[in-house]
Amino acid sequence: MKDLKGKVVAITGASSGIGASAAAQFVELGCKVVLISRTLEKLEAVAAPLREKGEVLCVAADVCDEAAVGKAFEGILAEWGQVDILVNNAGVGFATDLSSCSLEDYRAIMETNVTGVFLCSRAVLPGMKAQKSGHIVNVSSIVGKVANPGAPLYCASKHGLNGYSSGLQQQVAKDGIGVSMVSPSAVDTAYWDGRDIDRSKFLKPEEVAAAIVYVVSQPAGVLIKDIDLTAMR
Ligand SMILES: NC(=O)c1ccc[n+]([C@@H]2O[C@H](COP(=O)([O-])OP(=O)(O)OC[C@H]3O[C@@H](n4cnc5c(N)ncnc54)[C@H](OP(=O)(O)O)[C@@H]3O)[C@@H](O)[C@H]2O)c1
Repeated sequence: MKDLKGKVVAITGASSGIGASAAAQFVELGCKVVLISRTLEKLEAVAAPLREKGEVLCVAADVCDEAAVGKAFEGILAEWGQVDILVNNAGVGFATDLSSCSLEDYRAIMETNVTGVFLCSRAVLPGMKAQKSGHIVNVSSIVGKVANPGAPLYCASKHGLNGYSSGLQQQVAKDGIGVSMVSPSAVDTAYWDGRDIDRSKFLKPEEVAAAIVYVVSQPAGVLIKDIDLTAMR
């Protein structure tokens, strides 16, 4: 497996859930980790214990905001010179009865789950191309492959993300850049807060984080394009 020590890893949606768990695991492996989300206080709370073990940067940015994403990655590059691994993990979803769904709901889901991934990927690609290496991991969902009736807009966003990932993967392979998807079934995170649902059999965020680390740890010349995760409990 690849040694990730010293690699710069930027993770969106790192203030909670899967992103926060991934940050902790990358720090344990000796990576320099950038935590990105909209809420600096939440990022700093995640970062505080991690800073005892490694180098962590917190950057507040809304992934849907082109100017904010541009500024965020300019700052990261000024600080650490490169991004070796980008984990596009920020995402939102809510159960939507389409008859009462607003255009704002639609835009929030599409812009966070698809546009945000585009903006963050575009920000790191020139540097990755120049260094002829890099890995972008997009956290998708099992509903990006098999839709369910609970959340059609969320399903649409993850189907869109999967198409984007697959196309980008083929486009940048020649530049030495890997693009992968990680597609979990339900995960026990704040995503489900406020819903009356038993989460005891769900995947745990650290289990999905371990899959993200696994995907980017493969030997040079090997790409895991897609990994599906389901709980066995
Ligand atoms: N939980 C599940 O069952 C499940 C299953 C399959 C896939 N997923 C996917 O896993 C990913 C992580 O979800 P999670 O379950 O860990 O949820 P979570 O705990 O709710 O975390 C979502 C993260 O995204 C950030 N975020 C949301 N909108 C953002 C924006 N516009 N700009 C920047 N950051 C934003 C949030 O931070 P701020 O609020 O601080 O911005 C938070 O850090 C998502 O892509 C989700 O679709 C989740």
